[in-house]
Amino acid sequence: MNLNLDRKIAIVTGGSSGIGFAIARRLAAEGATVIVTGRRQDALDQAVAALGGSAVGIAADVSRAASLAALYAEVQQRFGRIDVLVANAGGGVHAPLGQIVEAHMDQQFATNVKGVVLTVQGALPLLGAGASVVIIGSTASMDPGPTMSIYGATKAAVRNMVRSWVTELKGTGIRINILSPGPTNTASLREAFGAHAEEGLAFLTGRSPLGRIGEPEEIASAAVFLASDASSYIHGVELFADGGASQA
Ligand SMILES: NC(=O)c1ccc[n+]([C@@H]2O[C@H](COP(=O)([O-])OP(=O)(O)OC[C@H]3O[C@@H](n4cnc5c(N)ncnc54)[C@H](OP(=O)(O)O)[C@@H]3O)[C@@H](O)[C@H]2O)c1
Repeated sequence: MNLNLDRKIAIVTGGSSGIGFAIARRLAAEGATVIVTGRRQDALDQAVAALGGSAVGIAADVSRAASLAALYAEVQQRFGRIDVLVANAGGGVHAPLGQIVEAHMDQQFATNVKGVVLTVQGALPLLGAGASVVIIGSTASMDPGPTMSIYGATKAAVRNMVRSWVTELKGTGIRINILSPGPTNTASLREAFGAHAEEGLAFLTGRSPLGRIGEPEEIASAAVFLASDASSYIHGVELFADGGASQA
């Protein structure tokens, strides 16, 4: 299977930490020039230093159209095109019905839904035939479980948008797929459980058919497959990298 990404220009939104950083590292290892984005410049600087080589960090907030316009203007000027776009920036806040906070709801929809729309739509002029768009979803799109209703709604919305976009992209040669991780070992997963991190991780581990949560590198392997020409006939799927959780 040819995962080679030599001479490819790849962007990973939210590439400064967690799953996005693991994907950026793997894309770079396969030969791509990788641009990572995020809001915090210090985190981007650290990520770029760790990625080495030709990696570039550009600060951008996916929830703001002007910020993404500035990002894509710079990418156009410096690189001229995008071959691989990984819309990864996102996150969730746990809250059961009765304790859902308006600000958290706005924040999750702004990043996970509006942010994905702006990220993909803004990139369109730079994407050509053969380009691959990978959107990071979540098993929460199918099975949000308790306290994840709003987060799950944002990820289900992405699934539905992609169903529409696949038909709208007809004739462009651009592929678009969703990669939906199950619970994955990142700092944000632990933080999401707050003081109950150990309890939360034990619950997720207990629910997993493979008996464990995933590692960011395992999500990155699937992302590189969807980014590369090895998946050239795969278009419009939601691929679950979740140890079987979405089937349980
Ligand atoms: N970890 C899991 O268990 C899990 C499971 C399923 C799906 N996912 C999904 O995987 C993706 C990454 O999650 P993660 O666990 O790796 O999270 P993470 O470690 O918190 O990383 C999130 C990244 O996104 C960036 N980001 C957040 N909001 C942004 C915004 N408005 N504009 C630009 N960048 C932004 C962050 O940088 P700044 O803060 O500097 O902006 C950071 O680089 C998310 O879409 C998440 O929903 C995660």
